[in-house]
Amino acid sequence: MSKLKIEDLTLIFGKEKEEALSLLKEGKSKAEILEQTGCTIAVKEANFEIEKGEFFVIMGLSGSGKSSLLRCLNRLIEPTSGKVVLDQLNITSLTDKELQEVRRKEMAMVFQKFGLLPHRSVVENVAFGLELQQVPEAEREEKAKTVIELVGLKGYENQPTEALSGGMQQRVGLARALANEPEILLMDEAFSALDPLIRTQMQEELIDLQKTMHKTIVFITHDLDEAIRLGDRIAIMKDGEIIQIGTPEEILTNPATDYVSSFVEKVDRKSIITAASLMFEKPTVAIAGKDGVEGSLRKMRVSGLTTLPAVSVDKEFLGFVYLRDLLEIKSKGHHVIAKAIRSDIPVAYPETTVEQMLPFIAENGRAVPIVDRDNNKLLGIVAQTSLLIETTGTSWENVTGNAIDHLQNEII
Ligand SMILES: Nc1ncnc2c1ncn2[C@@H]1O[C@H](COP(=O)(O)OP(=O)(O)O)[C@@H](O)[C@H]1O
Ligand SMILES: [Mg+2]
Repeated sequence: MSKLKIEDLTLIFGKEKEEALSLLKEGKSKAEILEQTGCTIAVKEANFEIEKGEFFVIMGLSGSGKSSLLRCLNRLIEPTSGKVVLDQLNITSLTDKELQEVRRKEMAMVFQKFGLLPHRSVVENVAFGLELQQVPEAEREEKAKTVIELVGLKGYENQPTEALSGGMQQRVGLARALANEPEILLMDEAFSALDPLIRTQMQEELIDLQKTMHKTIVFITHDLDEAIRLGDRIAIMKDGEIIQIGTPEEILTNPATDYVSSFVEKVDRKSIITAASLMFEKPTVAIAGKDGVEGSLRKMRVSGLTTLPAVSVDKEFLGFVYLRDLLEIKSKGHHVIAKAIRSDIPVAYPETTVEQMLPFIAENGRAVPIVDRDNNKLLGIVAQTSLLIETTGTSWENVTGNAIDHLQNEII
């Protein structure tokens, strides 16, 4: 189990660190401290944990402190104060020798500018770290070949890396990091120098790799789309400070500050927002075997709705009942709602995205029932208007008048 814990980590560049640190504790801003002391607050009091196997992305504009924070994790830069703890091991108090061991076995770094030896072959570059550790040649070639295959470079083993494209060079960088079989990969803008197409491809491959290898990945990017595509969770940095940590969906649906909002405005939400965050959880329902025709009609009257989801007494979703159908069976003398339940209603699950629910708009002209995948119990409903609003990219603040009336009518 390797869990990374970052406790109150601060990194200050400049001579007057002590003074800068105490100004920081007084609540002075990065700009004020720079002016008074000439010191740069690169990372300010970062506190967070990264779970084993997590794909953790640190996102922020250039100069926000991402690289500084990442480099403090393996002490390529010494933090000014605070702690980095890996499981029970306090990284910040290790001797140089112990630290080397940790860097070798636990954490490996992949850089934006690859950092390869240009004249050496792919296999020599990948095995370079092992060579420094005096791993016997046969063994290191063996290990190198395994990871070279893993990153899709089989057949290129003997090419000098300078002959390779950017994408391929970054694969070599990745293979070199993987050769030591580290638990944690630290990746600093590893894909930022690549062409968009190659970049997308590398992102997908990295996701696949992580699924099979279960590495913990700390990945830096200045690109929100990349962060959303890759991250289990994203930490957003501004001026050295982590201003929000959350899943992509949490960040999109609940941005912590105006700064985060302005970032997420441009993101294509359809493929990220799920039913779980849009659904209305306690809809009025007609309970088959309990409410009966009369009871269901009464519920419709009270709620002002003409359609209700029908559920069994143990909340299993059965379908929808419509006012006109209830009135019709009532006129025929029926007392139970069974005959009025329309059961051919497509359902979605909490993890279904808005994009995947779009076909439902055309299909039943009504709210989308959200059920538990395992037992078909009704968890809530997503109103069509919510789907339309997400699809058109209108922000909720701009939804007015008619749309709100419509929405209220539709929430059943
Ligand atoms: N070696 C350094 N000496 C002084 N200031 C630095 C140094 N490295 C980075 N900085 C400053 O620290 C801040 C954070 O930089 P950095 O971590 O490189 O940001 P990012 O990776 O998000 O672009 C910036 O204000 C930058 O100018
Ligand atoms: Mg950087």
